[in-house]
Amino acid sequence: MSNVLVITTSLRGRSNSDILAQRMVEGIKEAGNEVEVISLKGKEIRFCIGCLACQKTQKCIQKDDAVWIAEKVKEADSVVFVTPIYYYEMSGQMKTLLDRLNPLYSSDYKFRRIYMLTTAAEDEETAPEKAVNGLQGWVDCFEKAELANTLFCGGINDPNEASVKSQELNEAYEFGKAIQ
Ligand SMILES: Cc1cc2nc3c(=O)[nH]c(=O)nc-3n(C[C@H](O)[C@H](O)[C@H](O)COP(=O)(O)O)c2cc1C
Repeated sequence: MSNVLVITTSLRGRSNSDILAQRMVEGIKEAGNEVEVISLKGKEIRFCIGCLACQKTQKCIQKDDAVWIAEKVKEADSVVFVTPIYYYEMSGQMKTLLDRLNPLYSSDYKFRRIYMLTTAAEDEETAPEKAVNGLQGWVDCFEKAELANTLFCGGINDPNEASVKSQELNEAYEFGKAIQ
């Protein structure tokens, strides 16, 4: 059994990526794994200021929600990042969080598998490429971990639109079931 941490990063209500993540979570549970979901809605996550104090102390000098989220990431077996595509990239809030996970770089982190679920208005399969590359760059810095799998659900734009996308909801469920 794995402990899976899902981090959803869309800040809007009736978010499409949140809806798909919920279905993915059902798949994760169906496979017999433990899952915890953290939404960045309402969280305070300041920019990394680059002081690198964390590389000596494994702690960030800033006191906000990124501190306890980093502890959750550190202790999970697998982490799923869920993001809308913004200008062919991951959301800014997801990138800010990745930077704030820098205290983990020199720590004895437990996670081994990273996953990503993306959604976008357009359906071209190239739409999430830069976001996936961005996360791959982060994963490459954590040598004990790998980017295990990604899912892109395109052609979804209006709030709540994902709730009627049966094919994408099923893909999200199957994606969740395959998470280890
Ligand atoms: C600032 C911003 C930038 C966006 N950039 C893109 C884009 O580059 N390509 C695209 O297909 N959709 C883009 N979109 C549309 C969102 O990806 C789409 O609405 C998605 O369903 C939002 O997911 P959410 O409801 O989980 O936030 C953008 C939306 C916003 C707000």
